[in-house]
Amino acid sequence: MGIAPLLLLPILALANEPPLPAKTTVTLDPKTLLVLFGTRHGNRNPEKFVEVPGRTWGQEGELELTSIGKRQAYGLGKEVRAFVGQQFIDGNYRPAQAKFYSSSANRCQMTLQSAVAGVFDPSDWADWNKEKLDHWSPVPYTIDDPMLRMYSVKGCVNSDSAWEPISKDTLPELKKLVKKSKPLLNYMKEKDGRDATISNAADIADNIINMDFYNATYPDWLANPTLKGYNAEKIKKAYLSFAENHMNKCAAHKPCRNMMGGLWANHIISSLEAAASGSAKTKLIGYASHTEVTLSVMLLLGIDKAELTTSAGFVIELRNGTSPAQVRVLQHDPNPIDAHVIYPAHLVSELKAKTDKDGWMPLPALKDYVKQASFSDWESQCGINHCALPKPKTA
Ligand SMILES: *[C@@H]1O[C@H](CO)[C@@H](O)[C@H](O)[C@H]1NC(C)=O
Ligand SMILES: *[C@@H]1O[C@H](CO)[C@@H](O)[C@H](O)[C@H]1NC(C)=O
Repeated sequence: MGIAPLLLLPILALANEPPLPAKTTVTLDPKTLLVLFGTRHGNRNPEKFVEVPGRTWGQEGELELTSIGKRQAYGLGKEVRAFVGQQFIDGNYRPAQAKFYSSSANRCQMTLQSAVAGVFDPSDWADWNKEKLDHWSPVPYTIDDPMLRMYSVKGCVNSDSAWEPISKDTLPELKKLVKKSKPLLNYMKEKDGRDATISNAADIADNIINMDFYNATYPDWLANPTLKGYNAEKIKKAYLSFAENHMNKCAAHKPCRNMMGGLWANHIISSLEAAASGSAKTKLIGYASHTEVTLSVMLLLGIDKAELTTSAGFVIELRNGTSPAQVRVLQHDPNPIDAHVIYPAHLVSELKAKTDKDGWMPLPALKDYVKQASFSDWESQCGINHCALPKPKTA
């Protein structure tokens, strides 16, 4: 029954993305005023586990962050600390220096907590746990679903309608994919029982990714497929190709991208401007969110990208010393679990043309680019109707 995983590679080598550098390739500028990082949550469990007798992984529960995901996020935090160093912000958490935001999802909150544990290593007055070797500090954060999880904000009808052609597989390319994938989708239904949809096939991909991470046994229908034209390697690759399909489609589909990322993009630009003008003193801001939201905001920031692995995302650095202040857009990725790398972002040509050889561009250039899609009044953007509420009486 079952066999050991065949190929470890497809888990992390995103088919359409350039290869990662082996190590972080950027160093903090001495004039840096603010560093922002945004991340997709770390590796999580699938929504529905593929039935395998005596499953040895996934005890955290469906959709929850796994030990691999915690390690990825902690690795991100460690690398953010290595990037900013010990002078830029204190090793001890100080509220005036750092602010953090998460979506309400457990997996995002736990990702943020793991990352922040990698950023701060309390010592001296902040070391409340001296007998223990693991130095860790509780750090507060704000849950903000309109910014980081708009798809689950109640009453946001424009988010629902932006998602509809994707969730229902009615976008032309999704229709085509469903048609082309019929044998694989039907085979999944026959063997696993779940409905023959793209999102269920994506969940099979999530199962495979974690079976590989945990060196777990595959179910027989994947280890010894009976579908014509497929061996174990080919069927695995075929299901993996559905990973995060709908989330990636949302980021690629403008109405969905703008709805998911527009408020976050606005928050980023406002934070950069506040730091540049000296009106805010925060030096580090971190955000944890989901694939479609993080990927959407990355596209809104001019990053040329089609998919995003777990615990990956962006870093933005703002430096003073020029007028106007300059920003540099970076990316970060796990490599593959505990190690994490930060490197210059692959920008769209319109923005690339505005950067110098080290990747710096004037803040207004980024602002102009982002402006096309960002918004601050999220309720009106959502189509939330306040007219039904009684007008407050004026005395
Ligand atoms: C899976 O096997 C690899 C290679 O033997 C090992 O490095 C890794 O730690 C194992 N993973 C887990 C979660 O045990
Ligand atoms: C930026 O640099 C200028 C000139 O050195 C300085 O006057 C200004 O206070 C700096 N702004 C911030 C926010 O540090």
